[in-house]
Amino acid sequence: SDPDLVARATAAKAALGDRVFVLGHHYQRDEVIQFADVTGDSFKLAREAAARPQAEYIVFCGVHFMAESADILTADSQRVILPDLAAGCSMADMAVLQQVEEAWDTLAELGIAESTVPVTYMNSSADIKGFVGRNKGVVCTSSNAERALRWAFERGEKVLFLPDQHLGRNTAVRQLGLTLDDCVLYDPHKPGGGLTAQRLRAAKMILWRGHCSVHGRFSLDCVTEVRDRIPGVNVLVHPECRHEVVTAADYVGSTEYIIKTIEAAPAGSAWAVGTELNLVRRLANAHPDKQITFLDRTVCYCSTMNRIDLPHLVWALEELAAGRVVNEITVDPQTAHHARTALDQMLALP
Ligand code: 13P
Ligand code: SF4
Repeated sequence: SDPDLVARATAAKAALGDRVFVLGHHYQRDEVIQFADVTGDSFKLAREAAARPQAEYIVFCGVHFMAESADILTADSQRVILPDLAAGCSMADMAVLQQVEEAWDTLAELGIAESTVPVTYMNSSADIKGFVGRNKGVVCTSSNAERALRWAFERGEKVLFLPDQHLGRNTAVRQLGLTLDDCVLYDPHKPGGGLTAQRLRAAKMILWRGHCSVHGRFSLDCVTEVRDRIPGVNVLVHPECRHEVVTAADYVGSTEYIIKTIEAAPAGSAWAVGTELNLVRRLANAHPDKQITFLDRTVCYCSTMNRIDLPHLVWALEELAAGRVVNEITVDPQTAHHARTALDQMLALP
């Protein structure tokens, strides 16, 4: 990274001292990660944000929904800053509050809303988390989706899972023993989700038609191809990947799980990793004694995560050091109240 920018970021951070705390998601660029006080997956970062009451500013190097969750979980006096406001998440954008309320009305008309527990992936807007909190549901991340689903099925017969169909399906089928037939795909762009009343009544998992544009790109062909190319390779993927990819893989888990698995792997072992490229490259550089390759042949960054670059981080830190709060993320108090209920429920999962 540009030495001048590195020096400016270092100076601005030093000037702010304990008043600033920088969080970095594992998919962030190296040039940004070097300034993170803590790195993690979305679950770990949510907990870390909540555990820093002394920091006046939380600079979130990640995407918009993560910064919103940090604002909800931190004290009112703490300000959360997203260095580039264009760092959104295409998956989170696939579930809009009005669509979700229409879906809930459809379930209510069929008399099944009462026996349905809404569960939303962390990768959703504060509005959606608020909806879930109002309707006695829970937030989950890729590290605790199984526990969240078990909790939900203790309270209802069905789950409405938002917005990632893949995490919902993979967890339900692989970890809870449901069948693919127990899952239906609710398309918010079609009346009634494009499902018959009979199908909705029979389903146990109602999956929202959302997906991650990064993990959705890995295909079964990628797995077959890498197994042919590297005999004995271990295929390790994130549960946001499609069901056939996860089924063909050897290991499946969140970014934090992926890192721990690689760290614990013996020297000389070969790994093909199906997750965002910044993380895979960093793992490959950190473990030269292991053969670590990207599961796909093509380049696959998360374009919105990558919007947070060193120039944006330097700008945000220098503005804060000069006493100007820029790019603050705030969630309105009513939404935050309900979203907090659903987030606290997640943090309290056994
Ligand atoms: P985790 O951080 O929960 O592994 O999720 C990955 C992701 O896509 C974050 O946007
Ligand atoms: Fe969203 Fe996927 Fe990017 Fe994560 S990796 S921020 S889910 S688009």
